Amino acid sequence: MNDLQTVVLAARAAFELAVTPAELENAKAQYLGKSGRITDMMKGMAALSVDEKKTLGAAINLAKQAIEQALNDRRQALAEAELQAQLQAEALDVSLPGRQRGQGGLHPVSLTLERIEAIFGSMGFEVAQGPEIESDWFNFTALNTPEDHPARSMHDTFYVEGGTETAPNLLRTHTSPMQIRHAVQHVKKYRQQVEGTAATGGLFSGAMPEIRVIAPGRTYRVDSDATHSPMFHQCEGLWVGENVSFKDLKYVFTDFCHSFFENDSLVLRFRPSFFPFTEPSAEIDIQFPSGPLAGRWLEVAGSGQVHPNVICNMGLDPERYIGFAFGMGPDRLTMLRYGVNDLRLFFDGDIRFLSQFR
Ligand code: PHE
Repeated sequence: MNDLQTVVLAARAAFELAVTPAELENAKAQYLGKSGRITDMMKGMAALSVDEKKTLGAAINLAKQAIEQALNDRRQALAEAELQAQLQAEALDVSLPGRQRGQGGLHPVSLTLERIEAIFGSMGFEVAQGPEIESDWFNFTALNTPEDHPARSMHDTFYVEGGTETAPNLLRTHTSPMQIRHAVQHVKKYRQQVEGTAATGGLFSGAMPEIRVIAPGRTYRVDSDATHSPMFHQCEGLWVGENVSFKDLKYVFTDFCHSFFENDSLVLRFRPSFFPFTEPSAEIDIQFPSGPLAGRWLEVAGSGQVHPNVICNMGLDPERYIGFAFGMGPDRLTMLRYGVNDLRLFFDGDIRFLSQFR
């Protein structure tokens, strides 16, 4: 192997050893630089004859080209390697699932309210909404509970200034004011159809479609422990017509409980009680035939036949119209349905609890 071939091989080996562009440029200087091996050989030809110069010069040129070729190959290889390394480092796995926002769900009590609305909806009840800041008149007086009535003390609530029909002054203690609000609107509407816009005052004894409504919503009382919260939910029910009796109340509410708990062997008990706005009145208790709650009577609602005074405050003639009302506790129903033992869990906003109902 002649000198030139050795130089070419050595250059190739040196270029291979270079792993960075800087190292490669250093190696290049040793062969192709001003005082590199090839340049030295060119200089060494000065003393040679013209013929010798020709042959050796051509050979050196070939060696130089071979080295330059090797240099370029290595440059390209290094650039390619650098690109690959960069691509690797910045690699993006587009097959990974994206980060998603947590999916929300309805609050367990909202689920219950939806369920109540669906079941009563299927029985022809409409749904009404009313104000949580209520006036004395709708919350008590119109419901046959005058100012000095002892029943008011069981409904201790949060009062603000005011206190006329148009200036609400308390947080409603139950959804029963909706009995009056809804019935008054209903009567007004159909009375106008019968008597025209000049409808006179007094009680209405004309014909009208039955009132059949539920009114779910938030209610307030000064009360707080594992089964009472100062803010809680109620759902009012009202059915007023010409021929509505306690028997219908029993039928409707029993049917509701069987549907709500998906259990037709659930037993109901109507326990005599007192409410100023119903007469007779009853607390409704339910009992599960089996399961962890079996054998216990659980109170779920107050109910009764609408008191004639209340029928009058609805603007109706109690000689013609009669009906029943009930007020149930959706919070309680939710606890029973899902086996929750502390009411406060519903209002703590703890996501670990709430996400179980998604
Ligand atoms: N409003 C009553 C309560 O809060 C419940 C009730 C409603 C009773 C309708 C009878 C009729 O306790």
